[in-house]
Amino acid sequence: MKSASHQLFFILFTLFTISAAAIDILDRTQNITDGQTLVSPSGIFELGFFGSGLPTKRFLGIWYKVTPNVIVWVANRDRPLNDSSGVLAINDKGVLVLLDRSTNVIFSSNSSNAINPTVQLLDSGNLVLKAQSTTNDPSNNTFIWQSFDYPSNTMLPGMKVGKNLKTGFERSLSSWKSSDDPTRGDYTYSMDTQGSPELYMRNLGRPVYRTGPWNGLRFSGIPEMTTYENMFDFNFTASSEEITYGYGDKQGSSMSRVVLNETGDMQRLVWDQSTQSWNQFWSAPKDQCDFYAKCGPFAACNANDAMVCSCLKGFNPKSQAEWNMRLTAEGCQRRTQLNCSNGDGFYVLKGVKLPDTHNATADQSINLDRCGNKCAGDCSCTAYASADIREGGTGCVTWSGELTDLRYTDGGQDLYIKVAKSELDTSNTHKTHVVVIAAVTTISILLLLSVGFLFWRKRRAMRLVGRTFFLRDPELPAFDLETVMLATGNFSKANKIGEGGFGDVYKGKLQDGHEIAVKRLSENKYSSQGLKQFMNEVILIAKLQHRNLIRLLGYCSRGKERMLIYEYMSNKSLDFFIFDERRRTFLNWKMRLDIILGIARGVLYLHQESRVNIIHRDLKAANILLDGEMVPKISDFGTARLLRGDEPEINTQTVVGTRGYMSPEYAMDGKVSVKSDVYSFGVLLLEIISGERNEGHLLAYVSIRIIKQNAINLSNYTNSDIIFQAWNLWLEGNSHKLLDGAIGGPCPASEILRCIQVGLLCVQECPDDRPEMDSIVLMLASENIILSEPKKPVVCTSVGPLRNGVLNGMNESHSVNHLTITSLEGR
Ligand SMILES: *[C@@H]1O[C@H](CO)[C@@H](O)[C@H](O)[C@H]1NC(C)=O
Ligand SMILES: *[C@@H]1O[C@H](CO)[C@@H](O)[C@H](O)[C@H]1NC(C)=O
Ligand SMILES: *[C@@H]1O[C@H](CO)[C@@H](O)[C@H](O)[C@H]1NC(C)=O
Ligand SMILES: *[C@@H]1O[C@H](CO)[C@@H](O)[C@H](O)[C@H]1NC(C)=O
Ligand SMILES: *[C@@H]1O[C@H](CO)[C@@H](O)[C@H](O)[C@H]1NC(C)=O
Ligand SMILES: *[C@@H]1O[C@H](CO)[C@@H](O)[C@H](O)[C@H]1NC(C)=O
Ligand SMILES: *[C@@H]1O[C@H](CO)[C@@H](O)[C@H](O)[C@H]1NC(C)=O
Ligand SMILES: *[C@@H]1O[C@H](CO)[C@@H](O)[C@H](O)[C@H]1NC(C)=O
Repeated sequence: MKSASHQLFFILFTLFTISAAAIDILDRTQNITDGQTLVSPSGIFELGFFGSGLPTKRFLGIWYKVTPNVIVWVANRDRPLNDSSGVLAINDKGVLVLLDRSTNVIFSSNSSNAINPTVQLLDSGNLVLKAQSTTNDPSNNTFIWQSFDYPSNTMLPGMKVGKNLKTGFERSLSSWKSSDDPTRGDYTYSMDTQGSPELYMRNLGRPVYRTGPWNGLRFSGIPEMTTYENMFDFNFTASSEEITYGYGDKQGSSMSRVVLNETGDMQRLVWDQSTQSWNQFWSAPKDQCDFYAKCGPFAACNANDAMVCSCLKGFNPKSQAEWNMRLTAEGCQRRTQLNCSNGDGFYVLKGVKLPDTHNATADQSINLDRCGNKCAGDCSCTAYASADIREGGTGCVTWSGELTDLRYTDGGQDLYIKVAKSELDTSNTHKTHVVVIAAVTTISILLLLSVGFLFWRKRRAMRLVGRTFFLRDPELPAFDLETVMLATGNFSKANKIGEGGFGDVYKGKLQDGHEIAVKRLSENKYSSQGLKQFMNEVILIAKLQHRNLIRLLGYCSRGKERMLIYEYMSNKSLDFFIFDERRRTFLNWKMRLDIILGIARGVLYLHQESRVNIIHRDLKAANILLDGEMVPKISDFGTARLLRGDEPEINTQTVVGTRGYMSPEYAMDGKVSVKSDVYSFGVLLLEIISGERNEGHLLAYVSIRIIKQNAINLSNYTNSDIIFQAWNLWLEGNSHKLLDGAIGGPCPASEILRCIQVGLLCVQECPDDRPEMDSIVLMLASENIILSEPKKPVVCTSVGPLRNGVLNGMNESHSVNHLTITSLEGR
């Protein structure tokens, strides 16, 4: 018995040591077949075969042993094996090869002709081929071949991207095709060694994002690097030998990585031992200003500004009309030509990511003063800056030609821009301008930080509220499923009265005779996460009470069923009346004005007077319900967003809302604020007065133009654009002609004009110009308040015939494309 167990132990022990030997280092007599792996000495990385699917695709790759789904390197990404016959071995010429069933070479290292070559997977994640050390010198780490020279989509500590200027050998990252397909995708991340070197992310060769040039401490466009420089060593080398960038981990851990992911984002991730998960430290592009040349040449991007793009001082938009419509890719041009020989000067733009340096010249040997002289003496020079921000700024970068992809950023640099002297005459105001910009940036950053904090708190609060809701909310009664089914006749087709974004709406009658409207949330129309958020927001709305808001009576929740029960509105919705040939005649001027005022009061309550402040985001005629007395009730809070008084606006990636009612800054830039609701209210007001739908909205036109690249006859759109009509009639002094011809009875001209003027004030382009809801209510209700003159709305700025250049330019602007497409996807 004793000897048997001893024997077993021995067998196990040999098995263990044999397999351990087999998975540590590979020599000429060994190989790795599908199913076997090679593990780095401390067990951090593992090499083996992965992949699946039909048809089968197998790849040889390296992954973290703790998270095998995180693959950091792939050998044969463009030549997958079609079965599990792959073998990794060192052939008789000393070359590391991956062979398929018929011993075709799928992948190979360089030839070596070395004596007794071995292959090892190091703890850094580097797979190396080395010759047997003749000197036994452990510091000799010259490898015949290493995987670090051929990165996939991941950069690890010790790895480098960049170029060897002597041999021309280049290392760069390229994305996967999709999360389960390591085939080379569309994105690359590589060093541009022209001018002052910097890294570019490209999509099919077109720049999407750039880091900005190295400024001695970090990349000009990634000031965040300072916040984690105690964790990493950043190593940027620009010598006559090489231009490379790499990083090391200060703690010596290899558990951090920089990934170019398949959706075109750079991510820096670090393994958190305590939570056993990857934490993201940084990602880029981080906002719309990070997208390459978002604002075109000679313009600066400010992500915190309502007008994201602005021309540099001394420059005007190439096309004002397109600029107003957020078509900014063409950029700006000089207002006054440079004199060159004499009479030009510079002003400083503070806190920026330096513009594209591809055509710039860097000279480390001269200081900023001499840099200025150099630029002043060179007619083609348009700007200059310090090359290195250490020691108060040293070295010199000069730009010639256009300044592209310039943005404001926290911790940004000083850029000196050349303009004609006449543009500098206002040098005093200029100084304050710069100070204001710097101050605004700082304040915005503080604001952003506090907004983030509030969001975090709010999310927590909402989660808590959400839980109370379905367990025990004393203020909101629960309805039995049986009761609701009985009331709606088993959700019969006959009782269906509408279809919302979140599900169908049914009319019902409770046994006590009360009429209700039941919104049955359908799971397949909304993800469970979205459903949760929606419910949470509904909770808060349940606590709102106002004459002009729809009242939530209760809820029903059983199994997968989620229902909201509202008071029933016998007169359906506003669009049912104002856009109907016959029914519109029923609404006289007095009723329309009352409806407008009621809506205004409801929105005012949402924005300013309720317990929680809310942006509705989807105000439109279909969402205004009418009760038996034609009192308007705002409904459909599915897209509403909570807002705190000190939170001026929210940036959102998903633009939801309805075309025609969406404000330009929301549709184009994803910026939501109470002023986007004011814009929608203005459109609604003009619709109620005119009885016409605002269908041909130019924003929609712009989107279509970008996507389809087709020229569209503009007049088709302007004719049905109610803002366009209202503005032109206003200019002609014929505003009364906007009034719906179907209106009978007395129509006091002064009231109508006042109303239209308020409407035009609400649809002004710049959100700051639009009045707040409280003043709107006052302006509508009182004859004694003097209204300001509305400015020309953006949709009325005429756009010239399409030029090919514009279209191509637009197409190349990833961000614009991205944003407008999302806006079209909005409901
Ligand atoms: C791989 O190794 C096994 C066992 O050592 C051997 O039988 C097989 O022939 C080898 N395959 C190749 C392709 O070298
Ligand atoms: C798999 O690939 C080999 C060549 O690598 C080819 O000969 C064979 O036909 C392929 N098999 C299938 C099922 O596609
Ligand atoms: C090694 O491979 C690289 C790229 O595949 C190639 O450019 C280089 O010439 C090779 N070197 C040798 C010695 O074969
Ligand atoms: C390091 O190893 C390489 C390859 O084995 C060899 O050519 C070279 O001479 C060695 N260098 C030193 C300093 O030992
Ligand atoms: C930085 O890179 C250079 C050039 O590749 C190399 O010689 C140097 O050792 C690296 N320094 C660090 C700290 O990694
Ligand atoms: C790519 O990175 C971005 C930024 O962190 C992230 O939002 C996105 O989900 C990532 N995509 C994939 C497919 O991992
Ligand atoms: C440049 O300025 C000088 C001095 O003000 C003036 O004499 C000259 O005509 C200007 N040249 C051009 C091309 O404007
Ligand atoms: C660099 O100069 C070339 C040639 O003038 C021009 O085509 C290109 O657009 C410039 N690139 C940048 C980023 O300014």
